[in-house]
Amino acid sequence: MAQQGNFKSPSRMGGLGDSASPSSAGSVSGGKPRDQGIKEADFERRSFLGKIVGGVGAAVAISTLYPVVRYLIPPPLKEVASVNELNVGKATEVPENTGKIYQFNKDKVIVINDNGKLTACSAVCTHLGCSVSWDNAQNLIFCPCHGAKYQQTGEIISGPQPLPLAPYKVRVEGENLIISKA
Ligand code: FES
Repeated sequence: MAQQGNFKSPSRMGGLGDSASPSSAGSVSGGKPRDQGIKEADFERRSFLGKIVGGVGAAVAISTLYPVVRYLIPPPLKEVASVNELNVGKATEVPENTGKIYQFNKDKVIVINDNGKLTACSAVCTHLGCSVSWDNAQNLIFCPCHGAKYQQTGEIISGPQPLPLAPYKVRVEGENLIISKA
């Protein structure tokens, strides 16, 4: 088989003459032995690649685990200052014979306009916490989850709910609709 590349055949090496001492073969003049230099370079390359792979692995692990940890340990909720009354919008937002739900402090409040008479109570069903709505045809507050029925002022009519809806006050000032604690 023909020899290729820079492989030096014994015959070619013979051309170097006998002056080259055996100890000089494979070493760099004034440096480390060649095999040792190769091993050290190989070790440094592996060490460098190991650091790169380790760094990428750590970044992937952190980017994967961070959302999980944030989900499991949510940040503390900011305390929203509780108010006694709140301007929730324009009175025209609740036309006659309709109801509309507003956020009031931590509660949701339903404002009902029954032929011009405004009432308000919590919109959170006391059974399992579903949002109630105003049923104008039946003239009552209805919970769609398990059929709880309340009067428009929050008292229980029928259903599985253990308690009435918490009452609130509502009034109109100028054009504005004001909800306040009862
Ligand atoms: S949550 Fe309203 S009736 Fe069950």
